[in-house]
Amino acid sequence: MIETKGLIKTIGDKMVLRGINLSIKKGESVAILGPNGAGKSTILKIISGLIKATSGEVLIDGITLKRDSYDQKRKIGFLAHNSFLYDHLTPLENLIFFGKLYGVENVEEKAKQLVADVGLSFFIHDPIRSFSRGMLQRIAIARAIIHDPEILLFDEPHTGLDQHAIKLLNEVIMNMKAKGSTIVMVTHDFHQAVETCDRVIIFKNGKLVEDISNVANNLELVNAKYTEQVTSL
Ligand SMILES: Nc1ncnc2c1ncn2[C@@H]1O[C@H](COP(=O)(O)OP(=O)(O)O)[C@@H](O)[C@H]1O
Ligand SMILES: [Mg+2]
Repeated sequence: MIETKGLIKTIGDKMVLRGINLSIKKGESVAILGPNGAGKSTILKIISGLIKATSGEVLIDGITLKRDSYDQKRKIGFLAHNSFLYDHLTPLENLIFFGKLYGVENVEEKAKQLVADVGLSFFIHDPIRSFSRGMLQRIAIARAIIHDPEILLFDEPHTGLDQHAIKLLNEVIMNMKAKGSTIVMVTHDFHQAVETCDRVIIFKNGKLVEDISNVANNLELVNAKYTEQVTSL
C-alpha cells in the first residue's frame, strides 16, 4: 500500500507538485500519464525515497517513508531515467553488486537467471559501457527487480526498447503482478498503459487531474479522458 498525503515539492521558485493525495492498494497496477514537466518523475523519486518532498508525507504499508530506512527501500524497485548502473562492470557484475546491496540470497544464480530473462546472456561478460540504450534499459529493468520488490516504480520503462524487449518487459510486469506486486508506471504509451495496468492517473502542472479505474484494455476511455484534460486546452 502506497499513500501520499498533501505532497508538495518546490524546486527553486517553482511548485512542481501541488498537493498530491494518492492511495494505491497492494497489488494494484497504476499508469501515470501526463505531459512533459507535469511532475511524474518527481513523484516517483519521492515515493522511492530518492528525494524529499517539501511538505506532506509518503506512507508505505502505513508507515511514514524515511529516506534512510533499509527495510522500506528493500520493498521498492525503482527504474528511473538514470540507470544507476556501473559502466565498467558487466551485466552479471552489476546485478550481483545490487543484489548483494539488498541481501539477495543465491545472488549469482538469481543474477544469471535475470540476465537470461532480459535476453542478454550472449553479452553477460561484456562491460556495459559499449551497450546500446535498449540493452542498458534491459539491464536496468533486471536491476530494479533483483530483490523481488513488493512495489515497482517504473519511469518510462518502454523507452528505447525494441519490439522483443517490450514483450519481455511486459512479461516481467505481468509476472510481478501475478506475484501480487504493486506497480506504478509512468508512460507516454497509452497502449502499454492499458495493456498492463488496471488504473490510470493523469498529472498536469503538478496536480492529479484524473483518476480512472478499470481501464484494462480500454484505450478509448483513456484517450478520451486525456484529450479532455490535457490535449484540448
Ligand atoms: N532537479 C531539478 N532542478 C530544476 N527543476 C527541476 C528538477 N527536477 C524537476 N524539475 C522541474 O520540475 C518539473 C517537473 O519535472 P518532472 O517531474 O521531471 O516532469 P515529468 O516527469 O512529468 O516530465 C519540470 O518543470 C522540471 O523542469
Ligand atoms: Mg519524467
